[in-house]
Parts: sequence; structure tokens; C-alpha cells
Amino acid sequence: MLILGIESSCDETAAAVVESGRFIRSNVIASQNDLHAEFRGVVPELASRAHAERILPVVRAALHDARATLGDLNAIAVGNRPGLIGSLLVGVAAAKALSWSLDKPLVAVDHVHAHLYSGLLRSTSVHDAGPSEQGFFDDFPALGLVVSGGHTALYRLDSPTTLRRLGGTIDDALGEAFDKAATILGLPYPGGPNLDRLAQTAGANPRAHDFPISRLSPDSLDFSFSGLKTSLLYRVRGLPAPGGVFARDHTSLADGEQADLAASFQHAAVQAVVLKIERALDRWPASEPPPRSLLIGGGVSANSRLRAELARIAAARRLRLVLPAPALCVDNAAMIAGLAFHLHAAGLTADLHLQAMPTTAC
Ligand code: KG4
Ligand code: ZN
Repeated sequence: MLILGIESSCDETAAAVVESGRFIRSNVIASQNDLHAEFRGVVPELASRAHAERILPVVRAALHDARATLGDLNAIAVGNRPGLIGSLLVGVAAAKALSWSLDKPLVAVDHVHAHLYSGLLRSTSVHDAGPSEQGFFDDFPALGLVVSGGHTALYRLDSPTTLRRLGGTIDDALGEAFDKAATILGLPYPGGPNLDRLAQTAGANPRAHDFPISRLSPDSLDFSFSGLKTSLLYRVRGLPAPGGVFARDHTSLADGEQADLAASFQHAAVQAVVLKIERALDRWPASEPPPRSLLIGGGVSANSRLRAELARIAAARRLRLVLPAPALCVDNAAMIAGLAFHLHAAGLTADLHLQAMPTTAC
């Protein structure tokens, strides 16, 4: 079963061919980082125009890399939600056109749910996979965490396609908070990976600054990062004078101070996530089968400190940790095609009335 996945929800134009929901035959990503760097964030109109220019070459490249023809495909999958509406529309239009002209099923995939699937993909071919790789991952129920530039949420999954949202951010997404923190510290775009790198430099002290770790109400499985971000802002620039003017900026930070601030910010941000994961595991209903694995996805799952903390939690609680390879942490179409396999198998296909939607399904 070969599925072509298409992804265009934000600033990556991507197409991939995945075999049997698991084995990546090709995974092509045209990043728009250069296009948006000068604005330090994604400009929606520029993004949708770039998607329109790139979508067909990217699909062609994905088929070429997979050594597949359009005729070999069994279904066309597309991330139709959530995301920037103009960007999503490009992928949805391309997928509908392919589905209609080839007379192949169309599968609509929620981009955030697909992030949870990315750790289950394999870059080996189906022929080279060992016996343990041939069967499907069945360590469900699982606790899922998506941490990206646009989304931060916890899920309970009973299968790849059966999931319930337990909580999510009430303000900034974790990646967005990292990117804004990096801007406050004067680091280049994209900020998250640069802040992570700086926080790992020798001598950077994660306890140098006592930044707030958001807990929200005692039962809450939601996240909040705006207080942490503001706290960093004031630490770097001082309190604003009337009119919102700051007396200083990152250029007045002494040597080593920038790295201490980065490490301390990263520590607080990651601890806030750890706290909610532990809370979700502690509150898992005793009457139900216990969680067997942690499924992680989204751009921030590349973060070194988060990965280390997740490994610690998984070992302490005897959970299987499923982390995507670094290349699959970012937005990609392999995760779309992979999850689509299960949706298709469950009969959850779409038709030509499929809409692009800015919000997630749950
Ligand atoms: O999943 P993704 O590619 O796009 C969205 O769907 O949003 O995630 C991109 C986000 C950006 O905010 C980026 O700064 C962040 O992931 N990111 C990181 C790291 N690598 C990427 N944040 C912290 N540490 C990293 N190592
Ligand atoms: Zn994403």
C-alpha cells in the first residue's frame, strides 16, 4: 500500500511516499526559512505563494525519489487542518486534483495528530526491516505530546486514529515561546534550535535565573508560556518605562550572561512540560489500562533538554519512549502519509468537498 502525503500547513512545502503506513520511500521538504527570516516569523501571504510555486515540483521529486509513478499510488493524503488557511488550501487543492484525476481515494489528516505518528515511521525499506519492524506498533494506550511552533498539547491515544485531547496551551505554543525568547536574547531566526545550542554551551547555568514554571490550577493539563517569556524580557531589558520603552536590550548582556539566560529559560520551559506529563500520568484513571508508551512529536521534540527529560520519565515509569528522528520532528509529509494509512484502513476517507480548516479537530 503506497500513499502519497502532502503537507503545506505552514512554511514547509512537503510531499512523501510511505509504504504500508510505516516505511518512508521518499520525504521531500522545501523549507521557506530563508523567505521569512528577515521578518522573524512566517508571513502568511508569502507562505501561500511559495507553496503554490513549489507544490508540483515537490510532489514530482517525492515520486522520483520513491521510484514510484502516479499509477503506483493507492491513495492521496493531505494535511487539511490546522494551519494557515492560504497555505493549507494549496495542499488541499493539489491533493484533490490528484485524487480526482487518478481516481484514487483522498484521505484528510489532522496535522497535529500526524506529528504524534512521526516517531513510528522508519527510513528503512520494507524489505530490509527486521521482524520487529514488520508488525505495527501496539503499545497503546499512549500519552502523546505535540510541541511545535504553532501547537502544544497533550493527548491520550488508544490507537493511531483514536485520541482525546487532555490539555493544551492557553497562550503561546512552546516553539513560539522559544522563538520569542531567542529574539529577546538577540539570537538569529529560527530561534528555538539556536537557543538550545547556546543553552548547551560549556558553563551555561540552567539555575542562574529562577524563571517561573507555570502550573495553572492543580488539576490542569493546560500549558502557559507567556509569563515565562515576559519574565525573560524584563530580566534582559529591565522594567519598561511609561510608554513601554525599555532602558536596555540584549546588547548590554555581559559575557556568559546570554548563555545563562538561555539555559535558565530552557530549564523552566521544559520543566513546565515535564510537570504536565507527570501530572497526566499520575491522573491516569486506575480503572483503565495503564499507559504503555509516550509518543512525542513537533519541532520542539528536537530540543536536547526535553529529550533528556523525556528519557528520564520513560525509564522511571517503564514506558516506551517514541521520539521522532530529528528530520521528522519538523513539519513533513511522511507523517501525513503514515497516519493516512490507518485512517484509510478504518474507512475514514474524504471526498472532493474536503475543506481546509484553520483549527484542529480535537
Ligand atoms: O513542527 P514545526 O516544524 O512547525 C510547526 O508546526 O510549528 O516546529 C517548529 C518549531 C519552531 O518554533 C522552532 O524554533 C522549534 O520548533 N524548534 C526548537 C528546536 N528545534 C526546533 N525549539 C527548541 N529547541 C530545539 N532544538
Ligand atoms: Zn507542525
